[in-house]
Amino acid sequence: MFPNQRPRRLRSHPQLRRMVRETILMTSDLIYPLFAVPGEGFAKEVRSMPGVFQLSVDKIVEEAKEVYDLGIPGIILFGIPEDKDTDATGAWHDCGIVQKAATAVKQAVPDLIVIADTCLCEYTSHGHCGYLEVGDLSGRVLNDPTLELLKKTAVSQAQAGADIIAPSGMMDGFVQAIRAGLDAAGFEDTPIMSYAAKYASAYYGPFRDAADSAPQFGDRRTYQMDPGNAREAIKEIELDIAEGADMLMVKPALAYMDIIWRVKEATNLPVAAYNVSGEYSMVKAAALNDWIDEQRVVMETLTGFKRAGADMILTYHAKDAARWLGA
Ligand code: PBG
Ligand code: ZN
Repeated sequence: MFPNQRPRRLRSHPQLRRMVRETILMTSDLIYPLFAVPGEGFAKEVRSMPGVFQLSVDKIVEEAKEVYDLGIPGIILFGIPEDKDTDATGAWHDCGIVQKAATAVKQAVPDLIVIADTCLCEYTSHGHCGYLEVGDLSGRVLNDPTLELLKKTAVSQAQAGADIIAPSGMMDGFVQAIRAGLDAAGFEDTPIMSYAAKYASAYYGPFRDAADSAPQFGDRRTYQMDPGNAREAIKEIELDIAEGADMLMVKPALAYMDIIWRVKEATNLPVAAYNVSGEYSMVKAAALNDWIDEQRVVMETLTGFKRAGADMILTYHAKDAARWLGA
């Protein structure tokens, strides 16, 4: 032991620990995901995600007010349409569910930032994130035809009032295509938060319950990234930056802390971490069994994301965390 080096000196009092704390989680770091469904007065808890609900637009608006009052700066909207088809019509139609929800929320709570998830998987009959040749059961998504649909989707979301467009389908060139579409429609000032490094993950399982978006055949490994790859994440973010992304996301978060760190080191753009559905469900299941202290586990985990480099954290724990932080 070196007697002049005693790190415990700085841990002896709560106020001293507070003074030297390096990472402080704040409510302003959080983004809350919401699932919009057709209907009115409708709220249905997601089986695998206790405390998370599919909500009709009127209920989404109530929720948005609560989120805003808690001091959370933004929400991200996902939609479950009435009908699904091969063209993902529900994604880009002006009367689509996310479009309706975005308009209603911006009208009721104009100062809440509304992020629109821009993907096709909730809207295609086959559940893939892009366009497939009709009758193709291989699950080989066609990249460039998908870009056209994503462009249309992003523009209609911006027209409906979305403040940020968040493409999540991992198609090559999607940031550039969406940027061009937004600019041509007069939305030069609408930022793009790209799901830049999104891995093919089993942790999305509960989300696919929530969004009814599991692929009917095949899987997403021809477009989402292989969990073993880290350098490839840097390649993905470099491309997205070149294409005009304003913010970058790493997803999932827990098993990819090193990727959050590497991305943060590699760019000066804001970095978001998506604390995904399966990560939430695991914590909830353990907490409901009284196996862990939910509050402490959640706050430690969210602080970990921030320490790893996340400027923003998309999390289903956002409302609880905001309450625990004391809005
Ligand atoms: C759609 C999308 C998914 C998630 C966000 N956007 C699911 C998927 O890729 O299958 C997952 C979010 C979560 O698990 O919480 N592209
Ligand atoms: Zn998708």
